[in-house]
Amino acid sequence: MLKAVILIGGPEKGTRFRPLSLDIPKPLFPVAGKPIIQHHIEACVRLKELKEILILGFYPVSQMQQFVSNMQNLYDVSIRYLQEFTTLGTAGGMYHFRDQIRLGNPSSFFVLNGDVCADFPLQKLYDFHLSKENKSLITIMGTEATRQQSLHYGCLVCDKNGIVSHYVEKPSSYVSTLINCGVYVCSMDIFSVLASIFYSKQQDFSSYNNGNGKEIGHIQWEQEVLTPLAGTGKLFALSVSNWWSQIKTAGSAIYANRHYLVLYKEMHPERLTNSGMKANDSTDGTLICNIYPDVHIHPTASVHPTATLGPNVSIGPGVVIGPGVRIRESIILDNAVIKDHTIVLYSIIGRGSQIGCWSRVEGTPSDPDANKPFAKMENPPLFNSEGRLNPSITILGYSVTVPSEMILLNSIVLPHKELSRSFKNEIIL
Ligand code: GDD
Ligand code: GTP
Repeated sequence: MLKAVILIGGPEKGTRFRPLSLDIPKPLFPVAGKPIIQHHIEACVRLKELKEILILGFYPVSQMQQFVSNMQNLYDVSIRYLQEFTTLGTAGGMYHFRDQIRLGNPSSFFVLNGDVCADFPLQKLYDFHLSKENKSLITIMGTEATRQQSLHYGCLVCDKNGIVSHYVEKPSSYVSTLINCGVYVCSMDIFSVLASIFYSKQQDFSSYNNGNGKEIGHIQWEQEVLTPLAGTGKLFALSVSNWWSQIKTAGSAIYANRHYLVLYKEMHPERLTNSGMKANDSTDGTLICNIYPDVHIHPTASVHPTATLGPNVSIGPGVVIGPGVRIRESIILDNAVIKDHTIVLYSIIGRGSQIGCWSRVEGTPSDPDANKPFAKMENPPLFNSEGRLNPSITILGYSVTVPSEMILLNSIVLPHKELSRSFKNEIIL
C-alpha cells in the first residue's frame, strides 16, 4: 500500500502569488479549471496501490475543508488535510504527523511540493525506487536546468546508478544542472532519520529557541535531511525529462495552465472545448464560439458565439463573455464578466471582476526562454531594484471594475478597485 503527502505551506508563503492568493489559498488557485493541487491528487490516484493522500499545511482547516470534501467525493482514496499548528518547515510536518502517515502500514510514501506543476511520472519514480531494493531511503525526481537557473533550486550530483553523492540547496555558485523537482518517494525508515534530527534539536532546545525563533519541531527537508544523506548511498535521484515547473508567480500560472490543457488532450479530453462544440450561449445554448485550442470552458459559463477564445484560455464557472470579445493566454475566474468587444491577453481576471466594452487588458508573456534548452520559468519579484514593477502578466484581483474603453497594460489591480482611467505598468492599490 502507498500513500502520498502534499506539502502546501500556509498563508505567509506564496507572497509572489499575491494578489491572487488574497481570497483563496494559493494551492487552491484554479489552473486549467482545477485547483493547483487537484492536479497532484489526480496524478496520485492513478497509482493503483495508493490508498491515502495527506495534505500538510498551516492554512486554517476552514479554508481547506470544502476542497477536501469535494476531492473525497470525486476520488476513491482517502484524502485528508492535516494542519500544522505553526510553520514546521518542509519536513517538520511529516515528523509531527508521522503516526498518520504510518497508519495502515504503507510500504513507502510520496512527498510532493504543492507549488510545482508537472506531468508527474510517479509510477516511473516508484519503479525506480523499488529497483534499488531497499537501499534508497529517499528517491528524488530530478530534472535538467540551465547552469544559471540551477542556483534557484536544490542541486544534485549523482552517478550513473542514481546514487546522490552531493546535495546543495540553492547554492551560491554552480554545483550541477540536475535539480530537485520537489517530488520524492520515501521509505518508511525515513522516520528514524527524522526522529534523530528532532531529538538532537530538542537537546539544543534553548539555543534553538533563542536562535532563529523557530519551533523545535521545525525541520528543513532539504538542508537537514537531503544534504546529510547525500554521499551515504541512501539517497537516489531519477532524472526525468517530463514537463515540470514551479508555480511561484502569477505568470507561472498562465504557463502551467497551457501545459495542463495540453495534458488534458490525452487524460481528460472532455475538459477541453473545441471549435464545433456547443457553447453555452445565454440565448439558446446551442451556438458555437470561435476556439483556438487549447481552451477549457466551465459548463456554467456563458460565452457569446461571436467571441474568440484561445489558445491557452481557461474560463471559470459562471463567467459571462460578451459578443466580439477576444481572449488569449489568460485565466478568467468565477463569475467574471467581460463585456462586448473587449480584448484580454496574458492576464488573470479575478473572481467577480467586471470589464466594460471595448477595453484592452494586456500583460507581458513570461515564458521560459524557448531558445535555451532546459530553461525554466523565471520567477522575478514584483519590483526590480529601482522599485519599478517588473513587466508581467496583468492581474485583476477579485471584484475589480474596469469601465468601458480603458487600456490596462502590465498592471496589477488589488481587490475591489473601481478604475476610472487607463493604466500602464502600475500596481493599483
Ligand atoms: N506543510 C508545510 N509546512 N509545507 C511547507 C512548509 C511548512 O512549514 N514550508 C514550505 N512548505 C511547502 C511549500 O508550500 C512548497 O510546496 C514546498 O513545501 C517547498 O517549499 P519552499 O520552502 O517554497 O521551497 P522552494 O520551492 O523554494 O524549493 C523547494 O522546491 C524546489 C522545487 O520546486 C526545494 O525542495 C528545492 O530543492 C526544489 O528545487
Ligand atoms: P495574430 O494573427 O495571432 O498574430 O494576431 P493579430 O496580430 O492579428 O492580432 P492580435 O494578436 O492583436 O489579436 C488577436 C485577435 O484579437 C485578432 O483576431 C484581432 O482581430 C482581435 N483583436 C485585436 N485587438 C482587439 C480589440 O481591441 N478588441 C477586440 N474585440 N478584438 C481585438
